[in-house]
Amino acid sequence: MTVPIAWSPETRELHLHNGRISYAMRVHDNGTLGHLHFGAALDPSRSHAHLEPTGFAGFANRIGDPVPLEYPTTGTGDYRIPALTVELADGSTVLDLVYQEHRIIPGKPARREGDGLPATYVESDDEADTLEVILADARSGLRVELSYTIFRDRPVIARSARIQNDGTDTIRLTGAMSAAVDLPDARWEFVQLSGAWARENHVVSRRLRPGRQSVGSDRGASSHIHNPFVALRRETTTEEDGEAYGFSLVYSGNFLAEAEVDAFDTTRVRLGISPNTFTWTLAPGGSFATPEAVLVYSDTGLGAMSDALHGLYRERLARGSWRDKPRSVLLNNWEGTYYAFDEAKLLDIATAARDLGVELFVLDDGWFGERDADTTSLGDWFVDRRKLPNGLDGLAAKVEALGIGFGLWIEPEMISERSRLFEAHPDWAIGVPGRPRTESRQQLVLDMSRPEIVDHLFGVLSEVLASAPISYIKWDMNRTITEPFSSALPADRQGEFFHRYILGVYDLYARLTTAFPEILFESCAGGGGRFDPGLLAFVPQAWTSDDTDAVERLRIQWGTSLAYPLSSMGAHVAAVPNHQTSRITPIATRAAVAFFGVLGYELDPTTLGPADQRAVADQIVFYKTHRDLFQRGRFVRLRSPFEEGGNQTAWMVVAPDASKAIVGYYQVLNRPVPAADRLRLRGLDPDTVYGVSGWPDAHDPLVRANAGPRGGDELMRNGLSLGADRREAAAWGDFKSWLFILEAV
Ligand code: DGJ
Repeated sequence: MTVPIAWSPETRELHLHNGRISYAMRVHDNGTLGHLHFGAALDPSRSHAHLEPTGFAGFANRIGDPVPLEYPTTGTGDYRIPALTVELADGSTVLDLVYQEHRIIPGKPARREGDGLPATYVESDDEADTLEVILADARSGLRVELSYTIFRDRPVIARSARIQNDGTDTIRLTGAMSAAVDLPDARWEFVQLSGAWARENHVVSRRLRPGRQSVGSDRGASSHIHNPFVALRRETTTEEDGEAYGFSLVYSGNFLAEAEVDAFDTTRVRLGISPNTFTWTLAPGGSFATPEAVLVYSDTGLGAMSDALHGLYRERLARGSWRDKPRSVLLNNWEGTYYAFDEAKLLDIATAARDLGVELFVLDDGWFGERDADTTSLGDWFVDRRKLPNGLDGLAAKVEALGIGFGLWIEPEMISERSRLFEAHPDWAIGVPGRPRTESRQQLVLDMSRPEIVDHLFGVLSEVLASAPISYIKWDMNRTITEPFSSALPADRQGEFFHRYILGVYDLYARLTTAFPEILFESCAGGGGRFDPGLLAFVPQAWTSDDTDAVERLRIQWGTSLAYPLSSMGAHVAAVPNHQTSRITPIATRAAVAFFGVLGYELDPTTLGPADQRAVADQIVFYKTHRDLFQRGRFVRLRSPFEEGGNQTAWMVVAPDASKAIVGYYQVLNRPVPAADRLRLRGLDPDTVYGVSGWPDAHDPLVRANAGPRGGDELMRNGLSLGADRREAAAWGDFKSWLFILEAV
């Protein structure tokens, strides 16, 4: 095999390649670093300099010079969205970044001490190679180090930049993106994951048009509204065919993902910290590191794009002992009790849960201070003895004695105005002195940019975590930031506040997860308000959405799966009528949706009737039997809830060796005279014969219609029959689901 990063001194081209993708750039005669190509694999032994567009003055950098540039700046003729913008000491904003040198490093160097930013990693140097290219602006002394890691077995490039002031004057960064990539045409659909609280990650697609189109967040968290992920796909791209790019940012704060189509119908995509809410002052000698951007290219559809992200995020972003361990089936008391519980009630719930097969009981909000409602006590991380007279340790010991684990909810970044913490430190809450502070969910946010507040939280939360046998933590975050300001920052550095906030959050995550490595942490932000790769580098799973309705979850989990693996998606069965939608769905359907994730229950099991109890016990047995497949199998999307009216959804998980698969098929509303429909499967072995069985009802007409041995080839070409006997179809009902279990015979 040739070296994965080739440098040609003759043509001055750099080419990262792994047989699946190529990323190529070239040092121009004037020293600037130009972008040649990111996408399909090209022959690294040949020059690709001709891929550079030429001749369009209005499209040039330094009018007439070759473009596009690898790390574009402003003011020299390239009027498109830049990667880097600055204000120099004389007030000017123009840079001339010129190639200095490059280094090729086996593996992927860890981020530098002090960066405080999460990133993907390798476990041995033969998994990847890294290119570092150094550019410099002679006049100001600004130095830019661009870093590109190509993974040997993944169609992925991980990119970031470090900007350093080697000059003698202070420089102010006004925008420092993680990546900018130029594509030679604009025939792309811009695919985003957007929504709201309880409606996260809906897939929204639009054709790229001339001008700028973007998603982002300026709320202090990656947000429910837009996920820090976008894809580009051709109009004809499907799940299994065609070109797709994925752009994913390993970051949890304010971000921007933007595409611009210029006058010549070329496209530039940029991804990074939102420049709307960012400035950074670089004193002489200072440096700034951007978050990591993960770039994926697929010529076999959106499915392969997601495969690449799932594998990378499950295996080389998640870390710690829980990365590879099976995740427990948990029961969380939130929707079961809200704030109204005492020890006896919780033990009743835990006992009933244990009897049904649950492995972990999680005590949610309301165990601390005097928290009987969301009006009080955030910040007071000591147990409420009115509810739990025997303390957390007393409760946890009793739960453990039942033979199951004990987990706990915390919301470290928040403070209630009615709390002892606020009485002691009113200045710790974010706000602009002299102006009113906006409350949201009746709470304020702690200034996580201040190290002494992070230290305080580490101290008190370490005590809580050490005080009882706690095996799981749910780390919530229920509001975003208003009146951004830190009393610890000087006036000219307030633009650093949002990034410093997230660095503080990462610091606390790193310290707590390191100090308590045996605890499984799950992140949450009112559901999926911070479901991003930044936090998935610290904790392997996240609460996908506060919406536990099975029908809503089809769309939420489908959208989330574009970028994130099932092992990262908390998915729970809740009571009906559903607390978010009032919808009543069969308990089997709620489970059939929640199986495709990390299964849990969000209800009071003591209120279940005997039939539902039997159903839950059966579900848990089923999930445990197939847990490895659900949590680590390859997820394949088959029929989208965002297409054709969204009445049907289908997806499947396949074992790595394709010996086993489970297909989920869901129908929202029943229709008379169903079509003689077939569901073509993917990812099976064409030469394997599979036994097909069904869940939950082995005698269901649709299961019977598909029972028996079937060739993998036939299942992929002809598919499962979805048009069973029409006379029986009327009995199928609304909100129905079917699982087909395929096992090699
Ligand atoms: C929002 C979370 O998403 C819920 O699951 C629950 O933990 C509440 N917060 C508790 O306040």
